[in-house]
Amino acid sequence: MPTRAWFPTFIYSEPLRPGSAARFNVGLADECRRLRDYDDAGRRWSAKNYQGGYTSYASMNELHRFSSTFAGLERQLNRHVRTFAGQLEFDLKGREIGLTDLWVNIMPETAAHSGHIHPLSFISGTYYVVTPRGCPGLKFEDPRLERFMAAPPRRLDARPGHRPHITYPAKAGNVILFESWLRHEVAANRVASERISISFNYNWR
Ligand code: NI
Repeated sequence: MPTRAWFPTFIYSEPLRPGSAARFNVGLADECRRLRDYDDAGRRWSAKNYQGGYTSYASMNELHRFSSTFAGLERQLNRHVRTFAGQLEFDLKGREIGLTDLWVNIMPETAAHSGHIHPLSFISGTYYVVTPRGCPGLKFEDPRLERFMAAPPRRLDARPGHRPHITYPAKAGNVILFESWLRHEVAANRVASERISISFNYNWR
């Protein structure tokens, strides 16, 4: 083949654990909602920056340090992040990777999260806790999009890897991991039921 593909972008998606996560998620959802009730600063921040929804991103973003439930989630995420980092072929010999931030996102009907990246980390991800049928997934953007300039649009039948966006459905019990520089967004929730997810960042040293 004269033409080969280079510079791939990896996205990881797996169930958090082999069995059902349903019971674990009931406890987690309960804790997320109690956090929203308790976190006055987070609700104020969300009213300005996360319209219609609640996130503890700017107020309580080290939940794994303060709650055994979230610490339990951290232990399970570590395994996935190590696997993903291995697939990315990072040389982590003699180095440690660790969770730095972990926060809650609750999106009722109409709440959306516009395109962003996660600075100051190398692997980021989301774990899905409550995902009502029809709720929005996680939409990723081709990181080269801003450089395309004069390129014509892709054919409608272009293979998925050639399209400028890919949306992973939000599925309770699933973990999605990506490199932190990869821009992503969540479209407005159009169902009359809350979507709950937990986002996190990992760094290395
Ligand atoms: Ni994000």
